[in-house]
Amino acid sequence: MALKRFGVSLEENLLDDLDQLVERQKFPNRSQAIRFLVSQLKVDDKWNGDEEVAGAIVLVYDHHKKDLQTKSTDIQHDFHDLILSVQHVHLDHNNCLETIAVKGRASQLKTLSDGLISLKGVKHGKLVMSTCS
Ligand code: NI
Repeated sequence: MALKRFGVSLEENLLDDLDQLVERQKFPNRSQAIRFLVSQLKVDDKWNGDEEVAGAIVLVYDHHKKDLQTKSTDIQHDFHDLILSVQHVHLDHNNCLETIAVKGRASQLKTLSDGLISLKGVKHGKLVMSTCS
């Protein structure tokens, strides 16, 4: 896609913030940082507007916890139309890492994610909000 240039006016402290962001996040330049920020805002906007989005639910849990896997499977079957893939990795003797790729309406993905993350025995859970366009 063709690149377009435009002028941006920023207060000095905001420009300092931008340059710190560029340095900390290892962006090659300011333009790349601004591209990232715009895409991030676009994703936030889609999620807030309950649009069709994609993402991933990451769960770490103790598989010895009674009923956890049964309940997790029940929930995943209830929302099967939102789930693209499930990857299960046995981290060690006790812990499993599950990455569930999802696509659908933002509110439905949040409901699915909340249901899984709040299960007893889940040590860490996060919904990574991304976009499908
Ligand atoms: Ni496992």
